[in-house]
Amino acid sequence: SLYQKGVKNLCENGITKVPKKYILPIPDRPSSENEDFSVVNSNIRLPTIDFAQLQSSNRSEVMASLAKACEEYGFFQLINHGIASDVISHMSDASKRFFELPYEERSKYMSNDMFSPVRYGTSFNQNKDGVFCWRDFLKLSCNPPEEMRPYWPASPVDLRQAAETYSKQAKFLYLMLVEAILESLGLVNNVEGENYLDEFEDGSQLMVVNHYPPCPEPDLTLGIPPHSDYGFLTLLHQVDDVKGLQIQYQGKWVTVEPLANSLVVNVGDHLEIFSNGKYKSVLHRVRVNPSRPRTSIASLHSVSHNRVIRPSPQLINEANPRRYRDTDFATFLEYVSSCEPKAKNFLESRK
Ligand code: SIN
Ligand code: FE2
Repeated sequence: SLYQKGVKNLCENGITKVPKKYILPIPDRPSSENEDFSVVNSNIRLPTIDFAQLQSSNRSEVMASLAKACEEYGFFQLINHGIASDVISHMSDASKRFFELPYEERSKYMSNDMFSPVRYGTSFNQNKDGVFCWRDFLKLSCNPPEEMRPYWPASPVDLRQAAETYSKQAKFLYLMLVEAILESLGLVNNVEGENYLDEFEDGSQLMVVNHYPPCPEPDLTLGIPPHSDYGFLTLLHQVDDVKGLQIQYQGKWVTVEPLANSLVVNVGDHLEIFSNGKYKSVLHRVRVNPSRPRTSIASLHSVSHNRVIRPSPQLINEANPRRYRDTDFATFLEYVSSCEPKAKNFLESRK
């Protein structure tokens, strides 16, 4: 149908109203009366974590801030992250130009296969969603980037190079962040040679470029419905600082204020489980706006699929009994993807 071709295509055909297919039931709308109107659209400055400080020898203060951000918000802004600004702007630019290609060119990369190295599509899950959301996406598998690269879109001509460089730097940054997060949880490599980082190095990485065209009636629909990320950590770049990301904070939806030259980092379900519930995988969603197209680039990181997902044994004790049962990754993914995106209160009951 027309909707399967995505939102960008729809807009190019000239619409002035949101089609019925995208209209959420009243309680699910972004400014539903179930929520506090005065707070729903307030902006929030996420806690800022300075990556350069995390790498210094004098890092106890920033470690404490990192732990607090992961406990209280499940989100933080990372500054001085070390990814060069031209690497980010090149990736942003090539991504934007991909969505400017004619539909026929973009649609070559459509796929229903979850494991395809490249997937272009629309909505959240376009084969299942009753109501569609106002998003088109390009998903690039990066396992590893240099092997997946030949499958990635051939145009714009510089996309493959930009995505390979960006994804490699994002993976490197991710591993450094994991190291810091393990330390913040009190987990340091022990003398017997147990290396906690090993299981993260061979983990999987998926880059998702989200594109949200301007929407004539932004209160009727969402760019992405409420969900939490299933992986360990997500690194997000909000291109051109166009806002739209909202997180649940103290029971309200608040808009994340974009901060130039920073990356938004968030705790995923796996880290919540790994930390035995200390760090929170927080519900978030994306609002759309009537005037500016928005692009975001998410780098999703999780452990490889043969690993078991479980609370770290070191974090379970009498004061902190186990809150999640062990799950192999395939079962975990199946469970997560069979869930309604917003029905993520399942985490606590997985014992
Ligand atoms: C996401 O939650 O996956 C996307 C967030 C965004 O576009 O800001
Ligand atoms: Fe997300």
